[in-house]
Amino acid sequence: MKNCRIINFKKIGNNDVGFLIALEGNREVPFNIKRVYYIYNVPKEIKRGLHAHKRLEQVLICMSGSVKIKIDDGNEKKIIELNNLNKGLYIGPAIWREMYGFGKSVVLLILASDYYDENDYIRDYEEFLEFIKKRNLYSS
Ligand code: TYD
Repeated sequence: MKNCRIINFKKIGNNDVGFLIALEGNREVPFNIKRVYYIYNVPKEIKRGLHAHKRLEQVLICMSGSVKIKIDDGNEKKIIELNNLNKGLYIGPAIWREMYGFGKSVVLLILASDYYDENDYIRDYEEFLEFIKKRNLYSS
């Protein structure tokens, strides 16, 4: 999918001393990091996300346990399982996302390219499809 990809982070260390992963803005993470937040203590049956962003870029990293992320660009849908500390999922603008399969031990870390702005959210799926259509018209 064009606006989403897995990023493999470089681990420093070994099994004898443990590992360290360093993430720098505009390097491993393909944007300037302006905000960091994390989601935790989410009951198994709960779905989070259920929105897209107009401009925001994010990288999602599962810090503990595993979680599934459904991504949808309006044409193609994909399910990605995040369960590894050295993998991040980059999600660009105009991607509908749903996070599920949590559990009390799951911690999902999110790095974001901008401050929180409710006006950047599209929380209605039909509105998202309209947004994609308009975007495609202007870009062709
Ligand atoms: P939301 O992004 O909808 O959460 P999720 O995608 O995990 O389901 O945000 C949930 C609530 O938290 C919503 O009321 C907005 C608020 N919020 C902030 O105040 N600041 C933030 O940085 C984020 C991400 C959310």
